[in-house]
Amino acid sequence: MAISESFIQQLRMACDITSIVSSYVELKREGRNKKCLCPFHLEKTPSLVVYEDTQSFYCFGCGTGGDVITFIMKIENLDYVEAVKFLAARVGLTVPEDGQDDKLAKQRSRILALNREAARFFHQSLKSPEGREGLAYFAQRRLTKKTIITYGLGYAPNQWHALLDHIKSKGYSYEEAALADLAVKSKNGRYYDKFRNRVIFPIIDLRGNVIGFGGRVLDDSQPKYLNSSDTPVFKKSRNLFSLNFAKNSPEKNLILAEGYMDVIAMYQAGFHNVVATLGTALTAEQARLISRYANEVIIAYDSDEAGQIATTRASNLFEEAGVEARVLEITGAKDPDEYIKTYGADRFKVLLEQSENVIKSKLKRLKSRYNLDEPEEQVKYIHEYCLMISELYDKLERDVYAGSLAVECNLSKAAVLEQVEHLRKQQYRRKKSKEWKEIQSGKAVYVDKINPERVKYPKEAKAEEGILYFLLNHPDFVSYILERIQPEQFITSWNQKLFALIIQKIQQDSPLELTYFNEQLSPDEMGRLARILSENRDLNHTKESLDDYIAVILQHAHKLQDAERSRFSLDDYEQYRQELFKNKGKK
Ligand code: UTP
Ligand code: MN
Repeated sequence: MAISESFIQQLRMACDITSIVSSYVELKREGRNKKCLCPFHLEKTPSLVVYEDTQSFYCFGCGTGGDVITFIMKIENLDYVEAVKFLAARVGLTVPEDGQDDKLAKQRSRILALNREAARFFHQSLKSPEGREGLAYFAQRRLTKKTIITYGLGYAPNQWHALLDHIKSKGYSYEEAALADLAVKSKNGRYYDKFRNRVIFPIIDLRGNVIGFGGRVLDDSQPKYLNSSDTPVFKKSRNLFSLNFAKNSPEKNLILAEGYMDVIAMYQAGFHNVVATLGTALTAEQARLISRYANEVIIAYDSDEAGQIATTRASNLFEEAGVEARVLEITGAKDPDEYIKTYGADRFKVLLEQSENVIKSKLKRLKSRYNLDEPEEQVKYIHEYCLMISELYDKLERDVYAGSLAVECNLSKAAVLEQVEHLRKQQYRRKKSKEWKEIQSGKAVYVDKINPERVKYPKEAKAEEGILYFLLNHPDFVSYILERIQPEQFITSWNQKLFALIIQKIQQDSPLELTYFNEQLSPDEMGRLARILSENRDLNHTKESLDDYIAVILQHAHKLQDAERSRFSLDDYEQYRQELFKNKGKK
């Protein structure tokens, strides 16, 4: 679907980049511009700059950049048309429809409708005589009718084609069912239901779409849970189970559980601010998603070893995402679901209130592993303790915990701190030497995916970018430039492509603001264009500098021709020489 230039113009005026960006991250003024922690990569010092004058942004850390539409595409994970619609809805504009939604958007909306139909079917099956066993299973897990309805839980009949038959009668094809990962295609080309004889947990996104499913067996067979794979409407690394409910909870923090049943049990017990990942470990994207809804998270994983390892991993991701993490310490039960069943909601609430920050809970666990009356064990404990706090980012925090250890083991605080700083130096050196080794072995070389030739020709690429910047700001110079240099003469192919695109836009009298490049460039390419704008904005661009840039590229072109010549094989050379000779002889 092509969206008219005039509408984009209208949208651009209505959506100030500062206000849109600041609804996702906190912007701080720095000189003329505004800065923030980049939501697209993990960092502790702000490197994303918002330029109000050009209504653009660029992150110097990860290279993401563009205009307000690119920002929405990236952060909301939408394509161009969806992002335009999203922004339009936000400011109360309606995108003029020309009835030509692109193929992909159509396919997505078909799959979403199919998913909804499937969720309805599973839910009906649960209520039908066929679903008796499923209902009995939920009853045994003490779920109320109300909870079952709230979560739209269901049952997949113990048959190979129950869902397929149903959705076929509703006008969907087997291929579509497979695309939604509701059906599987066998080796001999026949389709069958993916979920059979399982209770079903529909996964709902923030807009209320059914995007996927989880299914649990009714007994001890394996695999215990089956989850939808990624589909055109479902990316499990970017979604969280029950966030649709949790986001409306008045609580300021979120509880992160391991799976479907823990979430549902907590919800039923009155804790609505709870989410879980979808059959995988927590991802950085999910940690950032959580950071948008809460400043604090309570990690409520299983009490077993695996749960503790996962807790450490998750807490690192939360630290990087700027979310304060606390850890729920469950004793006397394997997980929150069991705990609530055994001890009730009130005691669970106390447990939540008692949850401590990650480092405290880790130190407590550490202590429980040693018998501190034994000098040898005490030494080991002190070592491990120092190692743990040496990893703390905040100096003040290290100071506080060093103080506690000093009191506990009757040491001087200075001695503890000295050991901690020593460990920090050691870690720093190790990290640096590892980085250096990676650089030497070529592993760390930054691969420029957008313009791979840029590393080979840095000087020429910079000159090209200078020309592009000049042209974008002085489109009236287009013939001046074209009289001196053609796109084919650009050395790096991506800049060449961009040069051609800008010329085309100027010749068609199209606007040159960043916004109008979204349709032709991918979000990554938008990032590169934003970088060109950002790197050049403070340089003084004059006609002289333009001439210099052109000269750099033309000079390089000559050098290339020389290089061509030196690549002649001996035979070629001899032929070339003889031809020269012949011509001379003719004269
Ligand atoms: P658990 O094995 O801890 O199950 O898996 P649970 O949540 O306690 O489930 P119940 O109480 O036995 O019903 C936690 C999460 O890990 C994923 C699921 O998302 C589950 O909710 N998982 C587990 C799978 O994806 N596949 C499996 O086979 C097992
Ligand atoms: Mn469980």
